[in-house]
Amino acid sequence: MKHLRSLFDLTPDDFHAITNLAISLKSRLLSGDRPDLLRNRTLALIFEKASLRTRVSFEAGMAQLGGTAIYLTGDAGWRERESIADFVRVLSEYCDFVVCRAMSQKTVNELAAHDVLPVINGLTDESHPCQALGDILTMLENSGGDLRGKQLTFLGDGNNVVRSLIKATHMVGMRFRLACPKPYQVHASYLEQIDRRFGKTDFVQSEDIQTMVDGADYLYTDVWTSMGQETENEIRKQAFLKYQLNQSVMKLAPRHCKVLHCLPARRGQEVTDDVLDSDQSIVFQQAGNRLHAQKGLLVWLAMQNGYIDTNRVKAG
Ligand code: CP
Ligand code: NVA
Repeated sequence: MKHLRSLFDLTPDDFHAITNLAISLKSRLLSGDRPDLLRNRTLALIFEKASLRTRVSFEAGMAQLGGTAIYLTGDAGWRERESIADFVRVLSEYCDFVVCRAMSQKTVNELAAHDVLPVINGLTDESHPCQALGDILTMLENSGGDLRGKQLTFLGDGNNVVRSLIKATHMVGMRFRLACPKPYQVHASYLEQIDRRFGKTDFVQSEDIQTMVDGADYLYTDVWTSMGQETENEIRKQAFLKYQLNQSVMKLAPRHCKVLHCLPARRGQEVTDDVLDSDQSIVFQQAGNRLHAQKGLLVWLAMQNGYIDTNRVKAG
């Protein structure tokens, strides 16, 4: 069974197939066509952390594809009334997919280990693969459909979003630069794991902002304190102070450079209003693309897991 526990579950060909589906479904939606490729299919959503974009885009995406999404609230008793093993086996009796946003990557892995329905990672402490799919779609749209040789520079924490972006950018032939204080940089062991799986990435991390921003086509930032790290908030605010994405940093980058943020943003902290609201910012297009990328992912998983055949997707 195919899952999306992280981008380690995808080959570059899989990744391209999903983005191509996303592009096609987006253009069909814009021309008023909403093919019901997932008619009568159901998606369960389990969220251990807050969400606007991920939750609503999955729910809206399922509706547009003719299926139903079921958001599980506290009374389902997730992790309280029964084991994860029993929970997921029961879910698979009713549902065709499950999205899980979990405190720990281990939870998503454990759900998938039972192999009873496709499991999609909706963000964990370690990764955010759905975000990276939407981000690549956004950059493809802004780079004429080809990202080879383009550079993404991220300012801030080497967090879940960054870890997924390292793999995603590699799959589309981009350079990735991370400007980040040493203690928050991505661990060498994680980078080695990526290199072993996908071949050597063009990824460099440094404390030096100027060098990392040099040659950037896209500048990206995210909160300094991710969900689950709230006790470290004050110490992180100090550590990342000089990594704010503001006009001084924008001046170091080429004028054509576009600004990304996965949102939600702490305006005035990791990014200033004038940057987030500037004509270089594409953050709302980026947020919108979560919908299209995830529809591509759902249809791809449906094909991979034998729910629908490829001809049906082509025919609509
Ligand atoms: N970017 C993102 O995943 O947003 P949510 O936390 O609102 O889902
Ligand atoms: N790094 C952030 C991303 C939120 C979408 C977090 O994990 O809170």
